[in-house]
Amino acid sequence: MSIIESNLDEKRSFSPREDHTKDANFTKKDLLRLTKQFKNNRNKTWSDLAKSNILWDKSFNDVISGKAPFYKWFSDGKLNVSKNCVDRHISKNKSAIIHISENNKRKVLSYSDLYIYINKFSYALRKLGLTSGDRVIIYMPTIPESIVAMLSCARLGLIHSVVFAGFSSIALRDRIIDCKAKAIITVDAYMRSGKIINSKEIVDDAIKVDCEFVDNVIVYENHDALSSKKTKDVLWSEILPREEKYIDPVSMSSDELLFILYTSGSTGKPKGIMHTSGGYLLNCIITNKWVFDLKDQDIFWCTADIGWITGHSYVVYGPLACGATILIYDGAPLYPHSNRFWEIIQENNVSIFYTAPTALRTLMKVGENDPSNYNLESLRILGTVGEPINPKAWMWYFETVGKSLCPIVDTWWQTETGANMIAPIPSINSLIPGTCTKPLPGIDVAIVDINGEELRDPNQGGDLVIRQPWPSMLAGIWGDKDRYVETYWSKYSSKYYVTGDTARYDEDGNIWIMGRSDDVVNVSGHRLGTMEIESALVSHRLVAEAAVVSYKHEIKGEAIQAFISLKQSSKNKSELADDLRQWVSLKIGSIAKPERISFSDSLPKTRSGKIMRRLLRNLARGEDITSDTSTLENESIIEQLKKIV
Ligand code: PRX
Repeated sequence: MSIIESNLDEKRSFSPREDHTKDANFTKKDLLRLTKQFKNNRNKTWSDLAKSNILWDKSFNDVISGKAPFYKWFSDGKLNVSKNCVDRHISKNKSAIIHISENNKRKVLSYSDLYIYINKFSYALRKLGLTSGDRVIIYMPTIPESIVAMLSCARLGLIHSVVFAGFSSIALRDRIIDCKAKAIITVDAYMRSGKIINSKEIVDDAIKVDCEFVDNVIVYENHDALSSKKTKDVLWSEILPREEKYIDPVSMSSDELLFILYTSGSTGKPKGIMHTSGGYLLNCIITNKWVFDLKDQDIFWCTADIGWITGHSYVVYGPLACGATILIYDGAPLYPHSNRFWEIIQENNVSIFYTAPTALRTLMKVGENDPSNYNLESLRILGTVGEPINPKAWMWYFETVGKSLCPIVDTWWQTETGANMIAPIPSINSLIPGTCTKPLPGIDVAIVDINGEELRDPNQGGDLVIRQPWPSMLAGIWGDKDRYVETYWSKYSSKYYVTGDTARYDEDGNIWIMGRSDDVVNVSGHRLGTMEIESALVSHRLVAEAAVVSYKHEIKGEAIQAFISLKQSSKNKSELADDLRQWVSLKIGSIAKPERISFSDSLPKTRSGKIMRRLLRNLARGEDITSDTSTLENESIIEQLKKIV
């Protein structure tokens, strides 16, 4: 029996053109061969891919080991990820990073420049006493120095945890404390939409209490905005040696941690998703080659911030390990004008462009025909990620941005999966607006019903699960083994990795993502736990109870509605609502601000005291209430809520 009913019906389909198949990195023949190999011998196939794509210091014998679900990949192999991303490309004599700043300064770093820079900064980090296994928080915008910081940590075997620069000091502190970071790397300040954001002040606030284990705050002088130095502060310019230094890349076991990246779950506390070195790098490399058809001459612009997984896998680790040229832009998409993206593509000959549906919907709204005023002929592949793309935005992307010549790769994956899992391969798959098409070779997904039975028939919605482990899978949750097992493996008795998404097949076997099955909302492609926002709201002195749900939003995909009951009545509700938005912004970050806030005397609860979020979801979405309300403790509240929503 399907868990969710689906009524979507999209008939437009676009087959690969000759120019997508000609010279493609991955062809139908490759797909057939690899599918057969995976069927015959999974481990050998992963092993061959790992050997041919990664530069190993010491090769491996064990492909997969460890006790389920704590799998280890290539664990007796040794490598250094930074060496894979930089050292092996310096002889190519090509650009590694093109950086465009918000005030339109352009800076280019070749692979040799990057290599020299990383070696110097690694030297500086080592001099501060940081050694293998230490955790380092990176709280910076997407600039070359943040990439240098990530790759220098990787060179020394330090575990980095990049925290999105838009997070508040409280959210930052939670993460610093959770991973017991020894150092924090930040900037004095940076510009966003023409405004100065003082990152250093946010860091100072974050470590004011309970962070005595932080030895150093390293400040990159990005904006000449540092007024005074605190005792733990060291300046980037002070510690970076003037002369060139060489630091031997530390040979890491393949299953040693490369990074921790925090993501929201359905409970309040963010989860520190752990990724290891060899397995993670493998899926990053092959998906960049297969899905993005990444080639030596490409200029790849993935607009994601390095604070998210997309920034890790498709700005930094994947493309650089392939020796590509990446473009990074550290400004706002609409600043100083709404054509910024098109201008950057035109001026820099971007050939692969990867962004989120939210960005596309915003751009489409502000300037439907804007892309037509720019020469975007350099583009050859377009990508989307983070949330389902609605067919209207897909068609606009395809026709107006890509001039109907560029395939759109709608890539489904998660922080936990490390790399693309379900996505079209441009030379192979026919594209239909709204589906991420088929699983990539080696990725064994299924859609299952509540009993864990596979749903193969079209249009039956169920839980999207992954049946076999894959190299770039998360290695667990930092400091919480039980939560890892409980969150991802327990629902179907450890048989499958549970993604938390629901999906269906269409008649051609394409997969359509239908949304989350847990209490997670996806605002502008960013995953936020509703519990986390609720905890922030109830910590406000006037709030008694809060429930957070999502509803469909034209631009953001999903937006947040908060239902609030107060400790005491308040006269000016709209002022209080603004106050609460500010409060959430302070506690988590402005991305988590509720779009709508509704106040009522109490919240609908079952007799056992559980808030009936499903009912609130119906109300927020303007749907009929389908759930049984007879178990409600306070049935009359529904009428009150109906009037205010
Ligand atoms: O719900 C799915 C949605 O984003 C979730 C993962 O979020 P996060 O870990 O923050 O990573 C975002 C970037 C990979 C998924 O569980 N999602 C991601 N990509 C798609 C998507 N939903 C539909 N279509 C996609 N292409």
